[in-house]
Amino acid sequence: MFNNNTIQRFADLETPFYYYDLDALKQTLDACREASVKHNFHVHYAMKANFNPRVIDTVQAYGFGADCVSGNEVKAAIEHGFGKDKVVFAGVGKSDKEINLALDADIFCFNVESVQELEIINDLAAAKGKVAGVAIRINPNVDAHTHHYITTGLDENKFGINTWQLNDVVDTLRKSANLNFLGIHFHIGSQITDMEVYGSLCIRINEMQDWFEDHGFAVKILNAGGGLGVDYYNPDTNAIPDFESYFSVFKKFLNVKPGQEVHFELGRALVAQSASLISRVLYVKNGQKKNFLILDAGMTELMRPMLYQAYHAIENLSRGRGAMIEEANAPGTLQPAPQIKYDVVGPICESTDCFRKDVDLPQSYRGDLIAIRTAGAYGEVMASGYNLRDHVKSVYSQ
Ligand code: LLP
Repeated sequence: MFNNNTIQRFADLETPFYYYDLDALKQTLDACREASVKHNFHVHYAMKANFNPRVIDTVQAYGFGADCVSGNEVKAAIEHGFGKDKVVFAGVGKSDKEINLALDADIFCFNVESVQELEIINDLAAAKGKVAGVAIRINPNVDAHTHHYITTGLDENKFGINTWQLNDVVDTLRKSANLNFLGIHFHIGSQITDMEVYGSLCIRINEMQDWFEDHGFAVKILNAGGGLGVDYYNPDTNAIPDFESYFSVFKKFLNVKPGQEVHFELGRALVAQSASLISRVLYVKNGQKKNFLILDAGMTELMRPMLYQAYHAIENLSRGRGAMIEEANAPGTLQPAPQIKYDVVGPICESTDCFRKDVDLPQSYRGDLIAIRTAGAYGEVMASGYNLRDHVKSVYSQ
């Protein structure tokens, strides 16, 4: 991601900023497209992961659909050229205004998360003389084996409709003339790296589609959601997620019937490795117990470490990994730069504003450029204006 030219280019730029490597993004999109197309699987990009305009334009150009979770995301998807027949709208709390916006845009499908929401969409569609395509988001009670803050498919989570409520769902569908039942939708969590979890999900999807068909509803769409994880520890050596294995699990275990479409909603896997947060060291504070690198970026620019104890690799671009320095007593003789443990922290007035404790880095100095890797998903989009900070800037490789 960083060659010498790139690092030199950073030297003149004001920090902090997100650096987007659009080639890395395209390589990932290529890999995903290749692995999905061969099974005739359809991928909708989960726009919540990153709605930076350059990113969504690039994703759109690959022919993926858009998975949106707000009226504004629906609007942005359409404005950025995603065909309305490829836009789906999910979310546990869609407002009437958002539902109306999506109805006006004639989107493909609402992923519906409660019986009451079905009734409201039916009423709002009726008022416009329209028929809304709907998929039922089912909470399958499958443990995603990921961080509990980003697990969504357990009975205790607020998402989806529990299986014991499905009789109410079909009763409502039967009496709702302005709803067109398209299929079933699942999303069990994010940053899932254990492929067996998806095997369990497939078994639940198979059971659920049989249930709907037994109750007289043809299931056209099987939507398995997103969640495929990335390697936060090895962003250079394992930059592209294993889309092959991921889709193969579904190919193997999902019971796809003739005429059915299989949909996915990948966010993180498509964009995470395409960006790093670039920051400068403002101050180096050497203490008796701790050394601190105080950066000009903090939780206002990248919140994941503070919110989910998420790991992001941290590099000092100015000193390099495994950098060599000249020995003081023997000019011309190089030796590895000493590694020092730093707590890498931001400037925000909160103790939680720490990217990671005890990070091994070469001895670092004020002005050094620091890269926080794998920040393309849920990074820039979760930035906040806390402390009245400037909105974080973006820089692109091309
Ligand atoms: N579909 C639905 C219904 C979702 O709720 C999500 C993510 C996705 C798809 C995309 O999931 P992905 O493929 O990106 O894992 N802010 C957290 C992640 C929250 C995920 C929310 N839902 C983080 O930074 O880890």
